Amino acid sequence: MKQTLNELLDARVRAALSAAGCPDAPAVIQPAGRPEFGDYQANGVMGAAKARRMNPRALATEVVEKLDLAGIASQVEIAGPGFINITLDAAFLAGRANEALADARLGVPRPAAQRVVVDFSSPNLAKEMHVGHLRSTIIGDALARVLRYLGHEVIAQNHVGDWGTQFGMLTAYLIEVEQGGEAAIALNDLEDFYRRAKQRFDEDAEFATRAREYVVKLQGGDAQVGALWQRFLDISLHHCEEVYARLGVGLTRADVRGESAYNDDLPAVVTDLQAKGLAVESEGAQVVFLDEFRNKEGEAQAYIVQKQDGGYLYSTTDLAAVRYRAGTLHADRALYVVDARQSLHFQQMFTLARKAGYAPATLQLEHVGFGVMLGEDGKPFKTRSGGTVKLADLLEEAESRAFALVSAKNPDMAEAERREIARAVGIGAVKYADLSKNRNSDYVFSWDSMLAFEGNTAPYLQYAYTRIRSVFRRAEGWDETAPVVLSDPAERLLALELARFADTLDDVARETMPHFLCAYLYELAGKFMRFYEACPVLKSEGEVRASRLRLCQLTADTLRTGLGLLGIQVLETM
Ligand code: ARG
Repeated sequence: MKQTLNELLDARVRAALSAAGCPDAPAVIQPAGRPEFGDYQANGVMGAAKARRMNPRALATEVVEKLDLAGIASQVEIAGPGFINITLDAAFLAGRANEALADARLGVPRPAAQRVVVDFSSPNLAKEMHVGHLRSTIIGDALARVLRYLGHEVIAQNHVGDWGTQFGMLTAYLIEVEQGGEAAIALNDLEDFYRRAKQRFDEDAEFATRAREYVVKLQGGDAQVGALWQRFLDISLHHCEEVYARLGVGLTRADVRGESAYNDDLPAVVTDLQAKGLAVESEGAQVVFLDEFRNKEGEAQAYIVQKQDGGYLYSTTDLAAVRYRAGTLHADRALYVVDARQSLHFQQMFTLARKAGYAPATLQLEHVGFGVMLGEDGKPFKTRSGGTVKLADLLEEAESRAFALVSAKNPDMAEAERREIARAVGIGAVKYADLSKNRNSDYVFSWDSMLAFEGNTAPYLQYAYTRIRSVFRRAEGWDETAPVVLSDPAERLLALELARFADTLDDVARETMPHFLCAYLYELAGKFMRFYEACPVLKSEGEVRASRLRLCQLTADTLRTGLGLLGIQVLETM
């Protein structure tokens, strides 16, 4: 299959518009909102008519006359001021299903491949990963998977926070506990380690002085302090990797390129910005005034790239990083999956990167922002005592809650199997609850709703999958190469939904919106249930039975693939 459904319809309608005297007019193909509008609507006629001061109904009539949808549509109608309603032919949809069944990629075409940098997870290594890093980690992972599936080359970049004054304090404290022989235990809990180091820093002036000396030594390349810092990072990264493994996120050490990696580049970035007349001195700091960003008084906002004391900032590091992503990695597109509260930083950084020539016009730069996770009280998600929730604890709780649910459903199942199911369900529920919401909004983290077996949840979809698989366990002897033939309306609607998979993935990739895929899978499961209620599968006979089993098969394959692209596992039973 060379084109997705949208691409195919778009090409045909554009050809007709062109033949009707409107070359280059967009077709504006959209899934129809209501059954009486057919399956798809082409909405481009009105715009094209307006631009040419034509009567839209008259143009629509002409377009429909020229429109060649032979073998694709069974009905084409003009509605309202010039909408074109298209109903796809059942035989055509059956053909799409058969092509998808015969293809390991389920009929998903490969768009022109791009090299895409995805900056995600990127925790600060001074502390343990907490819920704030969950969203970046799973949204970034899902986007990376979808992009890879479409055939793009994805370069994951875990831009960890591994540099700055905190690390002087932490290495100084590491020496101290090591002298007491307690380093191994103290580092078991990084959160605690950080708290105690901070306490020492605040209470003991000598310690604070030492910590500051360490920062200078670290920055000066001192081997001994450098080795301690490395050791600390190693332990901290190991904590992250435990979380990644548990989440089923494929980030490895090879993907880590932390802030420290850009260290040597920072003076060069500032010098270069000065040479280009972009950075100027202001109150002892080096700043860039960006005309594109103005404050309330209408003055250009200052973007600081070097502090008064000579220190560099988060902004400077990101400028060096974008230069690396463009110049060394030769990316076509760079995604930054980072909290929406950093939006201004990224808009300014992107603007400056363009002006300074670090990011050529051919490199797409996108901040993939997301809202915060809220507790059921609508306030930022915290522990009962008001502390930050460690990710490791959250995932532990997800699995144990799922284990209780699974055990209640299947008391006789072996414990190992219940654990295995609980892992997939618990982790899947946490991920899906996050991914299924529009990432731009804040969302309420609720155990009960994410673990529900009804509604738009992971357990519901995982369960739908096991139900389809169970059909095959009872099918016995059927023609696994039989063609799909569509006669019942419920079969046709299921096949239509199945045919939309490729467009859904394109939409996810283009708009970096994983919730499009969740909504699609939920819709697909619903269409399947309706089909399954309306059309007997195992009790039907001959070609109809085989065709329906093939539809079941393609639905199961699509659900499994789609959930897999969200980083969610499916099960054979649950
Ligand atoms: N470490 C940062 C934080 O925890 C996120 C880094 C995101 N990536 C970037 N290139 N700035 O907020």
